[in-house]
Amino acid sequence: DSSDEEGEEYLFKVVIIGDSAVGKSNLLSRYARNEFNLHSKATIGVEFQTQSMEIEGKEVKAQIWDTAGQERFRAVTSAYYRGAVGALIVYDISRRTTFDSVTRWLQELDTHSETTVARMLIGNKSDLDNIRDVSVEEGVKLAEEQGLFFMETSALDATNVQKAFEIVIREIY
Ligand code: GTP
Ligand code: MG
Repeated sequence: DSSDEEGEEYLFKVVIIGDSAVGKSNLLSRYARNEFNLHSKATIGVEFQTQSMEIEGKEVKAQIWDTAGQERFRAVTSAYYRGAVGALIVYDISRRTTFDSVTRWLQELDTHSETTVARMLIGNKSDLDNIRDVSVEEGVKLAEEQGLFFMETSALDATNVQKAFEIVIREIY
């Protein structure tokens, strides 16, 4: 009987959203497998990874969902968000258009979520500081206005990746 399995009650669904090429898939592969791909292809449909962490002596599992930023490659929207209790909304600090899209992603999340969702705004590609197009202050300000956690990350050099996921998962727990 699978209901006897230890920790089963702590399985949380977390979704990653944001424009194409902001680094959603690489954030997930960095977190779940410590892998990074400089030439990763755009995601088609939906993929997910399950990752465990220990909180207060209990095993907590997060099922982290990743879909395409490009509309034509996206999974059925309502199914993607169904049951999600955590969300990472990602933009690329070197491309302002991806930051401008954040409010649209938040609206979509609001429209499709049934419960309170722990939300983290992520400015990814912090390693590209030399071609930065969005300041840290702007990220902080938007997060404050929208009631989100905020962090800049780099899937490339691994800065803050684990931290970002774990803050969201802890908040859910
Ligand atoms: P879609 O699946 O199309 O929605 O894109 P995505 O958001 O999943 O982006 P993906 O993870 O495929 O990354 C897009 C490109 O950005 C790839 O060339 C990655 O190598 C690169 N990339 C991802 N994260 C980082 C990062 O932190 N720093 C740098 N410099 N490049 C990154
Ligand atoms: Mg992807």
